[in-house]
Amino acid sequence: MGASTKISKGIDGKRDTILILDFGGQYTHLIGRNVRENKVYSEIIPFDTSAAKIKELIAKQNVKGIILSGGPDSVYEKDAPKLDPDVLKLDVPILGLCYGHQLIAQMTKGKVERAKRREYGEATVNVDKPVGILKGLNAIEKVWMSHGDTVIAVPDDYEVLAHTESTPVAAFRHKNLPIFGLQWHPEVVHTEHGAKILENFIIRECKCSPSWKMDNFVEKSTDEIKSKMGKGKAIVGLSGGVDSSVAAALVALAVGGSNVVAVYVDTGFMRKGETVQVKKTFTDLGMDLRVINAEDRFISALKGVKEPEQKRKIIGRIFAEVFEEQAKISGADYLIQGTIYPDRVESGSTGKSAVIKTHHNVGGLPKDLKFKSVIEPLADLYKDEVRKVGRDLKLPEAIVNRQPFPGPGLAVRIMGEITREKLEIEREADAIVTEELEKAGLSKDLWQYFAVLTDTMTTGVKGDSRAYGYLVAWRAVVSREVMTTKFAELPWNTVRKISTRITNEIPAVVRVVYDTTDKPPATVEWE
Ligand code: XMP
Repeated sequence: MGASTKISKGIDGKRDTILILDFGGQYTHLIGRNVRENKVYSEIIPFDTSAAKIKELIAKQNVKGIILSGGPDSVYEKDAPKLDPDVLKLDVPILGLCYGHQLIAQMTKGKVERAKRREYGEATVNVDKPVGILKGLNAIEKVWMSHGDTVIAVPDDYEVLAHTESTPVAAFRHKNLPIFGLQWHPEVVHTEHGAKILENFIIRECKCSPSWKMDNFVEKSTDEIKSKMGKGKAIVGLSGGVDSSVAAALVALAVGGSNVVAVYVDTGFMRKGETVQVKKTFTDLGMDLRVINAEDRFISALKGVKEPEQKRKIIGRIFAEVFEEQAKISGADYLIQGTIYPDRVESGSTGKSAVIKTHHNVGGLPKDLKFKSVIEPLADLYKDEVRKVGRDLKLPEAIVNRQPFPGPGLAVRIMGEITREKLEIEREADAIVTEELEKAGLSKDLWQYFAVLTDTMTTGVKGDSRAYGYLVAWRAVVSREVMTTKFAELPWNTVRKISTRITNEIPAVVRVVYDTTDKPPATVEWE
């Protein structure tokens, strides 16, 4: 389902809302999250939504402000995304971030210089006028920039609020209207006072009342599901991850576990103990759980395949085939999906974001599956909101707190061809990393941690003899959202313990390395 320009009814009816126009930036979701952290509802809509349509939303849905996101383009490109010029005449405050900032400058006849090269990373800005959205900021601030084009002058009716060494107009505002532009990204955690800037915009400038909360979510959502499904039966694809688990548990609460067929496809690429854990949780919830062992099917389809994107596509296809077979025999009228808000927008709002890797999850199901309807009870929520619902539903912490795990599972953590031997090595190494970090009490501060089996063979010495075996890498990252991550700085004794255990307990491994790359430039997963 793509993002729609119709604001979802949501769970609280009419409420103060900030609209985010998505120009395809990597950080658009962080803006959404930040708005909600201010207890104000946010919706991300396509950049080309007309001013007339937005005007309707302002009247109907209490839209109190608009944020224009960043984006990968230059305002000078032929097909660069444009904003309906009438949006700037709407009677609500507007904030342009990065591309949005450049676009406002270009549309109002400021001067925008075409980039010679893209600049990104931490930067220092001088706040010349701490007013409006910059109220309360210091004269010098640490911010996160990622931009190509640069605004070098504003027209007469605008004023400059901040500059950097290389960016003469790093922040501006209209002299009489609540229109602001910021070259940097306040939504990224590396901007020290980013949250303050967004709060200034949302609460001070837009005058939103901070009242969005999710207290009644379970009650309202189960009522909705009940009235939609009546006495029907639903099927859900469980991955063991938090989203599909919470969606399934919500529907089971609404219509009874026996009316929910839960299909768990064991691809063979699951972590140690994962299948057992999923079986226990969902059987306890009284669901009709079907565990489909499809390991042989996946492994034989991947024979000889080394290229990561090809691996991902094959896994997605087989997963869909297996699920389709189960759907046909389940007799279900409804399909439950654990789609969350970021998935909904990513699956087709602007088509502008670059494809870094083809993410596969249960969402990639065949379009011709026949159901009366698809139920997506979490479609308005972000991940941490989903975890909260999971806790309200009393799901075990092992499920609610599960680290994100990619749809293709351990298959994208084994470099090169996947064999059963490599799978076993990877699974064991991953279990050791997990166990040690959890035992040391370090895991709660980490976004993700896992082992990777490289395709490199290396020389070592075990006992008194030469050993020639695999190189295992492992990764632990900290992040607020996963758009940027930093490698975790861990105590050496834990790092040593992990190396020692992996090389002692897995005979085929002779060397272990810790991945010290941030994202960007690396991604979290190795493939
Ligand atoms: P990357 O590697 O792109 O990962 O930095 C960002 C986050 O997404 C997870 N990931 C996936 N999740 N299907 C998923 O559902 C996938 O195919 C997939 N690939 C990566 C990754 O674990 C990290 O949390």
